[in-house]
Amino acid sequence: MKTVRSPVAAARLAGSGPHPIVLVPTMGALHEGHLSLICHAKILAGRKGCVWVSVFVNPVQFGPGEDFSRYPRPFARDARLCREAGADVLFAPKPTGMYAPDHSVFVEESRLSAGLCGASRSGHFRGVCTVVAKLFHLTRADIAVFGEKDWQQLAVIRRMVRDLDFPVRIAAAPTIREPDGLAMSSRNAYLATEERAQAPVLRRALLAARERLLSGGSLPASRLVQSVIRDISRRPLAVVDYVEVVDADTLAPLRCAEHNVLVAVAVRFGKTRLIDNIHIP
Ligand code: PAF
Repeated sequence: MKTVRSPVAAARLAGSGPHPIVLVPTMGALHEGHLSLICHAKILAGRKGCVWVSVFVNPVQFGPGEDFSRYPRPFARDARLCREAGADVLFAPKPTGMYAPDHSVFVEESRLSAGLCGASRSGHFRGVCTVVAKLFHLTRADIAVFGEKDWQQLAVIRRMVRDLDFPVRIAAAPTIREPDGLAMSSRNAYLATEERAQAPVLRRALLAARERLLSGGSLPASRLVQSVIRDISRRPLAVVDYVEVVDADTLAPLRCAEHNVLVAVAVRFGKTRLIDNIHIP
């Protein structure tokens, strides 16, 4: 595995040969969820393609007061995991390498980014789109793999690729979970013992919502939202940021939960904000 630290070196190495470059963009602090994305990428790359993993904690997707400075950065461990997972190139630029001090061009998706996490994390998806666009250019990825845990991010990036004609195919990989159902996330490491014990309530509430919907055929979205909020709020440390029922493709709020439903939640445990979702096609 090659490790590349400079964007210029990455762009020189990338080249557009006959075999696919498959990119897994990450912010590091890798866990089994990321390893499953790399595994997906290896299948998509085939024997002759090349799997790139980027590790970059992107400052422009964090708002003031968010966890940019304390985000875990266990680089040596990440490099080892990438090597063991069979990545071909680890692209780990320094923050100063990715953004010029007077950087002034950003990519903004204006529709799918507005609700859900976009409503409480202003500027977040602008930062995500900007860095992902830069990573696509630098690596000349043919395919990029993203996790369904960040469903809104996946939808926003698909829209960016469609609307700006990026020659990149976006592949989605399912959420990987702890045995108790908690979706894997680098931020789970922030949870105190009691918070961690209560966090699986997100998954349980979403599964209960699916049961309710499947047994009733269709439901007013507001009733589904209320039931999820009630289930989550039974856990005293859980503070609901949002529970929304939206169309899984357009992310538009639904009045009646019937077809292609996405129930998405964000919940705070102390200073840690966790997200999860369930797709009910
Ligand atoms: O999902 C993430 O880890 C990040 O948002 C991404 C896509 C790597 C961009 O920084």
